[in-house]
Amino acid sequence: MKHVVLDFEKLYHRKPQITCFAPGRVNLIGEHTDYNGGYVFPCAIQMGIACAALKREDDSLRFYSADFAQSGVLEYRLGNLESRGCWADYPVSVVRAFAAFGYRLESGADFFFSGNLPEGAGLSSSAALEVVTGAVIRELHGIPVTRQELALAGQFAENRFIGVNCGIMDQFASAMGKAGHAILLDSNTLRYEYAPIGDAAVVIVNSGVKHSLASSAYNKRRSECESAAAALKARTLCRLTPEEFEEKKLLIPDKDCRKRARHAVYENRRALDAAAALKEGDLGRFGRLMGESHASLKDDYEVSCEELDFLVEKAQGLPGVYGARMTGGGFGGCTVNLMERGAVEAFLPAIQERYEERFGRRPEVYAVTASDGVGVRDA
Ligand code: GLA
Repeated sequence: MKHVVLDFEKLYHRKPQITCFAPGRVNLIGEHTDYNGGYVFPCAIQMGIACAALKREDDSLRFYSADFAQSGVLEYRLGNLESRGCWADYPVSVVRAFAAFGYRLESGADFFFSGNLPEGAGLSSSAALEVVTGAVIRELHGIPVTRQELALAGQFAENRFIGVNCGIMDQFASAMGKAGHAILLDSNTLRYEYAPIGDAAVVIVNSGVKHSLASSAYNKRRSECESAAAALKARTLCRLTPEEFEEKKLLIPDKDCRKRARHAVYENRRALDAAAALKEGDLGRFGRLMGESHASLKDDYEVSCEELDFLVEKAQGLPGVYGARMTGGGFGGCTVNLMERGAVEAFLPAIQERYEERFGRRPEVYAVTASDGVGVRDA
């Protein structure tokens, strides 16, 4: 990733004009609430995707990613940006989203991407790819869009052209992250507040089980929530308090939809409670809320898996750990673990050994720091 400028030159035989970097994210709590009008509490992390780019005179868009080197350079024309079922559909979809927002590009460009986010691990490699593409286009063409609009363009690209009906959390965190802080985001209004993470350490454990968000399961959860909201005559589920939900829940005829709704409503409350706990320095309470969040994702939302449940259960028993839960869309991916700083060193090998004993492979672990969102990066 360090050599994105040099690598660009090697590949395209010219110097890039601009280099940007967009981070991945980890969500501390508030899962599957962002398309239900609720709160999320993610932070951007130090891992992400860099992109070097140079404008072209003609209408060709050429994309290369060191992370998908086997695909070689993929070339599109501005007049034909149809999806091809490959990784470059993500940056191409962002170009299409810009056009839909009124910024039609007049000339092409060469792009070189390189990242260090594991793909399909629930750390938002897709959002980082979308946001970094948007940032590069903004710089190359001097387009007056804010970082928040870069997030919206990424989400639009993904909803409309990739076919995943994701919420705004991942792109927002990638675009708007702030070093040392998590973001308490109201996905309904896009109002947000930065919350200092303080002394707690955040560690990610990658189960190595690849999730596929594009698989219909994510979109299915979303439509189950929409049916539940319609049955309750609520515009979005997270507008309801747990008390209101309990009163009306039998109006939701389908049992599964009722469970999904219960998760969304209570998870929204947990996200707010966790943000309050962090403010008060009550990390023990934060950790308990993470445990409740995981249980609800497992039992009511049904997006966990055996490997994630195992990692959470073991982490909860290790010294200095405040709490653990699966993070991101689910069906595999990572857990997020909140712990005392002094506990990290012993935690890493301990969780790896336990997982290896049970599943026969050593999981990757990342001690992460809350980081800044997308930006122009010095070469
Ligand atoms: C994925 C989506 C997000 C969010 C999470 C679950 O990461 O992209 O919008 O819905 O799943 O919280």
